[in-house]
Amino acid sequence: MKRNVAPDFLAKTGVKHMQEKIDLRSAENGEEFANLAAALFIEKLEALDNPLVVLPTGATPLGMYHALATHHAHRRDLWEKMRFLALDEYLGLRRDDPRLFYGWLRREFLDRVGVPESRCTAFQSDAADPRAEAERIKTWLQQNGPIDIAVLGLGTNGHIAFNEPGSAFDSTVRTVSLTMESRKANAAYWGDIALVPETALTLGLGDLGRARHSILLVSGAHKTAILDRVLKGPVTTDVPATYLRDRANVTVIADKAALGLR
Ligand code: PGA
Repeated sequence: MKRNVAPDFLAKTGVKHMQEKIDLRSAENGEEFANLAAALFIEKLEALDNPLVVLPTGATPLGMYHALATHHAHRRDLWEKMRFLALDEYLGLRRDDPRLFYGWLRREFLDRVGVPESRCTAFQSDAADPRAEAERIKTWLQQNGPIDIAVLGLGTNGHIAFNEPGSAFDSTVRTVSLTMESRKANAAYWGDIALVPETALTLGLGDLGRARHSILLVSGAHKTAILDRVLKGPVTTDVPATYLRDRANVTVIADKAALGLR
């Protein structure tokens, strides 16, 4: 089913090939963006038993989480059957640190709809041996995967989770160093780049590439240039999100600002 494909964008750019693989939907405004994303996520959840889900942190998905908590929190049938796996996490933060991505997701979404902690698998930021921690999650995913629904955000440098430019398309769970661009983008949340850790744990593009459904959320005029490269530029590890171009069942939900339509 293709609803709300971005016709202006496609007509303007003459992109045809991309449309064959990626289902592109455009939203007029923030509310429509949030509601489209929430509705698609619910539709995918409803269709699956025991779905394994990854979810993004950041400004982009906040409206979707709010819409889900406001309008769909009563769907206990969905929230109690889903399994959550963390996409990525900073390294070196204590368990009670407010910067933890998993803590952020619990506050903004998981606790608000009632996804039980017992159904959530997250990275331990304070692991004494980060490589062993990456191995632990890798083994967990081998035994419990693949991911059924990957909801993703897009970095201004094209990253997906913390797969920074140059990440191999077959990369797996690992420790990574963050680029200055990502650290600067994340500093917006904490006020100072010194508060953004330099290393992290992330799922790999190979793990995400095996997801049965992927939903990429892109919002804001500051993402127009990178979204253009993701949808129409060469498929290259310089733009990690271009791995999605070769995958089936990929939906991009973008607002008009991100599509450069206003
Ligand atoms: P943002 O982050 O939603 O805050 O723009 C996206 C990302 O870096 O994945």
